[in-house]
Amino acid sequence: MSLLQNALVSIGDLDNDDIGHIMKLSAIFSEVLRRDIPKVPTLRGKTMAMVFSEDSTRTRTSFEIAAKKLSMDILSLNSSQSSMKKGESLKDTLANLHAIGADGFVIRHSSSGVPTQASTWMTVPVINAGDGCHEHPTQALLDCYTLIERFDTPSNHTTDNAILNCFNGMTVTIVGDVEHSRVARSLVIMLDMLGAKTTLCGPRTLMPRHVDKWPVRVSYHLDEVLPETQVCYILRLQNERGSGTYLPSIREYAMNWGIDSKRASLLPETAVIMHPGPINRGVELAGEIADSSRSLILNQASNGVAVRMAVIYLLLANPGDITEV
Ligand code: CP
Repeated sequence: MSLLQNALVSIGDLDNDDIGHIMKLSAIFSEVLRRDIPKVPTLRGKTMAMVFSEDSTRTRTSFEIAAKKLSMDILSLNSSQSSMKKGESLKDTLANLHAIGADGFVIRHSSSGVPTQASTWMTVPVINAGDGCHEHPTQALLDCYTLIERFDTPSNHTTDNAILNCFNGMTVTIVGDVEHSRVARSLVIMLDMLGAKTTLCGPRTLMPRHVDKWPVRVSYHLDEVLPETQVCYILRLQNERGSGTYLPSIREYAMNWGIDSKRASLLPETAVIMHPGPINRGVELAGEIADSSRSLILNQASNGVAVRMAVIYLLLANPGDITEV
């Protein structure tokens, strides 16, 4: 098993056995989170450093709460309020945080590749919490868990990785700003590994230049793709990365690519809506669809805690610690 030697920077660091193992461990931690006292002593005495140079609500809070549920201490650094503002390098910053007591790092950065680089500097584990337009591996893992919760049929389990069977042939349509989406990049890699059929749909100006090399079908006809979609995964229009400059107008984008009630009615009755958050309501997704019974958006946020507990556990726990769960 290649499982998480010292970092999780790309979903490609994992194989199907690893993903299956993380899903089973996430289910164990989900059960822990439903207990009267939803906390285990597994990683007591260890400290997780959260280093975020980009804003975050879900990823940061769910990593923090995941670490706390494992009894870790948190060391939190917002780079805009740190000595990096005075010119200290990231390498020196991480080395000093390690000297102060960090046993692992969760890093979000606006530049692609920073967590990968950090993992070569550090002797302790590094987890990518989203880097530029590159990857967001724990988002893909929590999406995987959320889809298993909805589509898995435990009675069909015959092999070790049967928990992943529900992805075989699953039709997933990823809609919107693929070019700037690290979520889409991690998701496409994972869905291909698990045997799903992925279609990318969005404006030509927001499709990556080499998308023909990706293991996906590309369509510019959203209304034709929706009736054959089981999972409609909607991406945020990333205005902080200049997405709006690739479009005639946000209003036109909403009209052509936004999922509103009329478009959602083209989906099969059992299809689900997903979105990594934060949502631009009324742009890529209408509020009434985000809040509808077919939306898994809050399930995604909620499952982030158990999945991140599993990832932290696999990177930081000693063999045998699972007995303390
Ligand atoms: N999905 C996600 O990464 O959300 P945040 O930017 O709020 O962490």
